[in-house]
Amino acid sequence: MVDFLELRKQFPILGQEVHGHQLVYFDSAATAQKPQCVIDAESRFYETINAGVHRGAHELAARSTVAFEEARAKVAKLVGANSVEGQEEIVVTAGATAGLNLLATAFGNASLGRGGDAAKRFALKPGDEIVVSKAEHHSVLLPFQELAYRTGATLKWFDLTDDGRIRSDTADEVITDRTKIVAVTHISNVTGAITDIEPIIKRAHEVGAIFILDACQSVPHLKIDFHKMDVDFAAWSAHKMYGPTGVGFLYGKREFLEALPPASFGGSMVELAWMDKPAEYMEPPARFEAGTQPVAQVVAAGVAADWMREIGMENVEAHEKTITAELLKLNDVPGFRVLGPLENKDRIGTVSFDVEGVHPHDVGQFFDAQGVAVRVGHHCAQPVHRHFGLFASSRASTGVYNTVEEAKQLVETAGKVRSFFEV
Ligand SMILES: Cc1ncc(COP(=O)(O)O)c(C=O)c1O
Repeated sequence: MVDFLELRKQFPILGQEVHGHQLVYFDSAATAQKPQCVIDAESRFYETINAGVHRGAHELAARSTVAFEEARAKVAKLVGANSVEGQEEIVVTAGATAGLNLLATAFGNASLGRGGDAAKRFALKPGDEIVVSKAEHHSVLLPFQELAYRTGATLKWFDLTDDGRIRSDTADEVITDRTKIVAVTHISNVTGAITDIEPIIKRAHEVGAIFILDACQSVPHLKIDFHKMDVDFAAWSAHKMYGPTGVGFLYGKREFLEALPPASFGGSMVELAWMDKPAEYMEPPARFEAGTQPVAQVVAAGVAADWMREIGMENVEAHEKTITAELLKLNDVPGFRVLGPLENKDRIGTVSFDVEGVHPHDVGQFFDAQGVAVRVGHHCAQPVHRHFGLFASSRASTGVYNTVEEAKQLVETAGKVRSFFEV
């Protein structure tokens, strides 16, 4: 049994008051707060190790390299990826957005013939199709939409059910033998709905397409095993999984990483460079990690990954489910409409809502005045808002530190919003 009230004490930031109220943080879908062990890991790195990795013969450089690679292995363990030397499947990125752009750029490079025969499987031409969904965060939609524009491929998408779930039941129609790439979110950052990805992956592989998962909102909340799921690539950010900002990870099946051409170029990713012919690039993951890496942040992200595994992701899921049950009661508050599945099943505790007659920014300010942090706006996912006939919403989202009492407080506060604004 995990004592989540004890666990909460590991988050120093949550001890403070905001506007005279005890802080209630319901914005973990934007970024999660950090436990003390993660904060300490980053400063300890600077106090005792700080040096660039994979270069330099001195002791600190050696320690830094070991710490960096150990962190990669810890992250790999959290998501069921390989970390054996020479078989690594985790690439360090600057975040989910960077990881998804890396893929779109690399596919674009393959479409120009870079990467040779091995990279032909990633090349796109007019007539080919890229499939996304209406539930995508802009960090999936835009890189792959741009890739379609650059290559002449056609962008297609999955529609959504009335409650905002991706219509996986239409996989056989949406994905055709012209489909080369399928990129969808595992969990919407607006509706909290968990996508039924199995039929989509099955169909994508049937037609020989590459399947890319946006795992930003699932890695912090569910037990993940990319091998078992059979995804080809997946991207997510460390800062949403209790790690530092500025870093993220890209999972790729080893054979795909080996065949993929690089997307950014510079130091530490090249074996041989000449003036008069193309360089020879290193094997993955180094091939995709040009430039000096954010080592302190990666090391701290490794600590976050171990910390999550120690809690147990099944325990995290069960705990957050109890809070989600309370948050879903927002739908019963007069004038409130929850955007997304109302049943506490195949969803996480990311609960967006519309308040009739009150602008989301006013809703957010009202909550803030009571010490309750929620997010407002379109959450970088405009098409899914349009699906609900809206441009923006308010969003409460859970982390391991939230309590059922906090959720009750949020729902109680919600009950006062419309009368405050005299609606
Ligand atoms: C579902 C989803 N995908 C992608 C992203 C982009 O993550 P980042 O801004 O950390 O790159 C987010 C962040 O909000 C997200 O929620």
